[in-house]
Order: sequence, then structure tokens, then C-alpha cells
Amino acid sequence: MTEKVAILDCGGQYTKVIDRKVRELGVYTDIFPLGVDPDKIKDHNAIILSGGPSSVWSDGAPKYDKRIFSLGKPMLGICYGMQLINECFGGVVKPGVKTEYGQILIDIDNTCPVFDGLSDKEHVLMSHGDAVAKVADGFKVVASTEGVVAGIWNGEKKIIGVQFHPEVEPTVNGMKIFENFLRKVCALKEVYALEDRIETSVKMIRERVGENGKVVVLVSGGVDSAVTAALLAKALRPDQVYGIHIDHGMMRKNESDLICANLAKLGLVNMQRINAEDEFFNTPLTIDGVEYQPLCQTCEPEKKRAIIGHMFFVVTEEAAKKLNLDFDTAFLAQGTLRPDLIESGNPDVSGYANKIKTHHNDVGIIRTLRDKGHVIETNWDWHKDEVRQVARMLGLDEEIASRQPFPGPGLGVRMICTDYIGTFEDTDKVNKLDEVVSGYPYDSDIAPIRSVGVQGDNRSYRSMAILYNNVKGKDALDCDFENLYSLAKLIPNKLDYINRVTYCTNKNEMQGATFCTPMHINHENAELLRELDAIVTKHLMNKKTAQCFAVLLPISCDEGKHFSVAMRAVCTSDFMTARSAMPGVDFPIEELKAATKEIMDNFGDKISLVLYDVTGKPPATVEWE
Ligand code: XMP
Repeated sequence: MTEKVAILDCGGQYTKVIDRKVRELGVYTDIFPLGVDPDKIKDHNAIILSGGPSSVWSDGAPKYDKRIFSLGKPMLGICYGMQLINECFGGVVKPGVKTEYGQILIDIDNTCPVFDGLSDKEHVLMSHGDAVAKVADGFKVVASTEGVVAGIWNGEKKIIGVQFHPEVEPTVNGMKIFENFLRKVCALKEVYALEDRIETSVKMIRERVGENGKVVVLVSGGVDSAVTAALLAKALRPDQVYGIHIDHGMMRKNESDLICANLAKLGLVNMQRINAEDEFFNTPLTIDGVEYQPLCQTCEPEKKRAIIGHMFFVVTEEAAKKLNLDFDTAFLAQGTLRPDLIESGNPDVSGYANKIKTHHNDVGIIRTLRDKGHVIETNWDWHKDEVRQVARMLGLDEEIASRQPFPGPGLGVRMICTDYIGTFEDTDKVNKLDEVVSGYPYDSDIAPIRSVGVQGDNRSYRSMAILYNNVKGKDALDCDFENLYSLAKLIPNKLDYINRVTYCTNKNEMQGATFCTPMHINHENAELLRELDAIVTKHLMNKKTAQCFAVLLPISCDEGKHFSVAMRAVCTSDFMTARSAMPGVDFPIEELKAATKEIMDNFGDKISLVLYDVTGKPPATVEWE
């Protein structure tokens, strides 16, 4: 690639979105850690510095080589990136000047080429505690909010810094800012086309596998691995490709049948379906010298993810052995996407990004095999929407191309496991929640379980608040959702021990504290969740909801019932940020009522609470674990 941009990762979770936006504009990108050797980026045409969770003045700030600022390249610094630029060129950054989080209207100097075509006031996403206290010499302020610096520009050096995040959706004209930077400041053209990348991928497969090599491809049923299988089928002879679908007992209803039928259509002749529920649920493991209990006794999310990821490989290796293949000679192919690796904190694509979740296709054993050169990742360079386009270009069924994402660990991360018996015991925290909720027409409680979130670029594992409509004589779903959603935003901002808020759809008024009983992954629980998930998907999935599913919870407020269920439906295009789909706006309220009724009609003997997750990402994540 002759024209390319280096993205230096300062640890921000949005780095992959920057990557995505630049590529969407047809410019090739490489991501490096901020501390990259300047020699490695001397042939890149421009540098983008991402945001990050640190403060430039703190001891924990990521290290870097100052020479990156003397390479004479055009630069775009975002949030932390801007603060770093300002400091390196002699300015000052301080805490407490102004803290801004959320969408804000800022003043813009649209004579700056990077802001060309924008109006003089723009909506942008701000998320910072530090701010510029003195602007570096040679830079002028080109954006501001109430006197606080939101953008600096040095026309001679072609360096722009923005305090806000042009890469995410709340910055309405963010794409225009990237376009101006790439075309008007860096003079880069649109040359990085998807068609060429398919050809490059096919060429790469042929070169690596050779005339006689064999490849085992793990097909999960989602669009990613289907594209990998299709690319392998295009690049190699049928006898070189072995497809394996592992049913780990945590697939959705009828999913494995659907997948296997579709794979046959792809022309995969050597195709195996392996039912491995028992092995996944009941095998104790040693991973990297650490002993793990079997999955059916494990509660911690990261441990569950590690076990499932590892078991995928163990089962695949056994299957390969039966085919007389081993991974010293054969290759393992998987549909890993670029964002999976960035989010797993993979050192090859991301220097510092705080690990939010271990993706199943980037566990230790796969990294070792990758280092040996035996993993083929045809989609390694692509984002989700690009893979969907590739799927259509390769002629895959639309049912597969537009399929909603399903995590590799499947329903395993949607069964919230626990050994705890009891209620949430910290009354002080419950009282504080009551204070925040007072004045709103809701009762509130804190559930004695935790779920994963992403807050301030870091992983969090915190409590969940439940809200109940407390207006007498009204149906639970007869509520003002705008008002509910603004409260759902307020709670995690005010109370740092809560990262998720749900709304009870089957009970009006709270009827006793939420009680927790032990729950683990097993066949019965997976079966129950499969049914619940099918109901939720049937009612809530539509063109506006990008993903939608059920989560099985070990909580109840009714004697004799052990479970509750949470319904999750989100709207997002990149899955890095997401908002909870709003009833009445993103799908009809009647559908939520119908889903609640169907759940209670069919499973009312087991299910106590039916909850709807009203939290965005951040502060929660899309999945609960
Ligand atoms: P989170 O929960 O991190 O999810 O907000 C963002 C998107 O990624 C999917 N996801 C996964 N996909 N393997 C996958 O292939 C995984 O381990 C995994 N974990 C989360 C999630 O379903 C959502 O679409």
C-alpha cells in the first residue's frame, strides 16, 4: 500500500472506530502502540493519535518517542492525542479546567481546512477530565466550548488537535472532519477498495496454504466465519478445506441445523458437525499452568470465556486428529475481525487498550499457534460492516450476510452464574440509589449480581439497578420511556458502583427484595435460555435493532422461583458504542408487552422478573459478561 496512515493507540477504546472511519474513506491504516519506534512509521503519510484514559501529566501516562513529532507528517490528535500534541509543542494541560461528558454544542472556526463545510456550531461527543490550560506556540484555537479549548491547529505543520471524538456517532459531522483531514490536509486519495481486498485475501490464502496444504475452518454460523469458509472455498481445492462446526451446547434455538444446511450450500464437501456439550460443560482444564474447574462450576465471566475459548481448540484438535491432520502442518482458519483483536487487547493491533473481554478466537493457545504462522484469519483486516459487504459480494445468503452477531461463547456468557445466596447487603448503597430515584415514579432495588461494563475506557464489573413502575393501577409498560431513559443515564453517572439499569416489565411496584440463589451452566438452564431467547428475538428484532437477545439471571423476588430474564435490544452501527433500543421508538411497546406475556405464560412457574435492559454502552456493554 503506498498511501497509508499510522494510528497511534494511546489506550482508547475508540481506536478501532478511528481505524474503521479512515478505511471507510478508502485509506489504508496500520495501528501501532503510542510507543512505536518512529522508524516504523516514517513511510506513513500521516499520523492519528487516539484518545486514552491517562492524563498526559501523570506518571502512568503511556511512554512514547518524542521523535514522532519531528517526522514532519500531518497529524490529527483526538482527546488525549490533542493534549499530547499540545504538551509536546510547549503548551500546558491541566485537570479541573473543565470536565465534559456527552454530546455538547461547540463553537467551530470553519476557516480551518479540517472544519471546512461545517457550520459554526457543531454537536460533538466530549469525554474528558483534563483540558488545555495554555495553547502551544504556533497553534491557534479553532474550536471551543464556553472558553475551553476544543480544537487547536497549526497550519504550517499541518497538525490539528480536537478535544472531542470525531470518530463516534454523537459527533454529527465527524466523518466530514476525517474526510477533510485526509483529503485537504494530507492529500490522500480513495484507493483502498473492498474488491481489491477480496483478491488480496484469496492470494494470501493460496500463498500461505500452497498446492498441497490443508486448512481446518471453524464455522460458528455467523457471518464472519461463513465469509472465511467462502474465501477458502474460492481460493483452494475442495479437498484442501475441512469445515468444522462445534455445537457447544450454548447455541441458540435451531442454530446448528441452520448453519450446517447453509454450509452445505457453500460447497464445503468435508464438513463435520460435532456435538460437544458434555466436553464443554464438564471437563476440568489447565490453561497456561492455571487449573480451571469445569464450566458447569465456574461463575467468573473471564474464566468462562477462557474455558470456552480453550475448549474450542481442544475439540477442534481432537477432530483434526481423526482426520489425520495436526496443526504443526495444517492451518486453522477462523473469522476473527479486526475489532475482536483490538478489544481483546491483542498486542499486534493494539498497544494499550484495556482488556474489556477475551474474545474466544484470541485466547492464549490461538495466539501461540498464530505466532507459529498456523492461523489463517481472512478477515483480520476488516470490520463487521465490511465483512457483511464481502459476504454479499461472495454470494452468501442474505440470511447469513445480515445475521445479528452472536458471541463465540454463545449463551455461556448470557447465563449469569453465581454461588451466592442472599440479597444485596449494602443498605447504604441501596439508600443512595433511592435518593437518586426519588422524584421519579419508580421503586428501585439493587440486584445481588454483577455484570461487565466499559467506563472511561476501562472494564468495569459492577451492580445492576432494577426500576419498577410505582404508579398504582397502571400497567408496568404504561410508562414514560423518555423519562425512564434519562434516569437510566443518571444512575451510573451518580453512583459508581452501578453500571447497568433494567426496568421490570411484568410487575407494577416492587414486591420485595431481589434474592439470589446459585446458578451454573448446565443443559436445563441452556434449554430454558434458548426458549426465552427465541421469544425475545421474535418480538424485538427488527431493522432498527442491531442485536437482540435474552439473558438468564439467578435472581427472584418470588418464593419457589429461581430465575429472572433480562431482554436486551440495542441500536448501533459499530458495536463500540450502543444505545438501548427504546420501546415505542425503535420497536412497538406492544411487542415488549407480547414478549413479557409469552415468557410468563410459558415459563411463569420458573421466572420471577422479566426485565428490559435500558442501559447504553457505555456504561454497560452489549453482552452482560
Ligand atoms: P460487547 O458485549 O463487548 O459486545 O459490547 C460487542 C459485540 O461483540 C459481540 N461479542 C463477541 N463476539 N466473540 C465474538 O465473536 C466474543 O467473545 C464476543 N463477546 C462479545 C457482542 O455480541 C456484540 O455484538
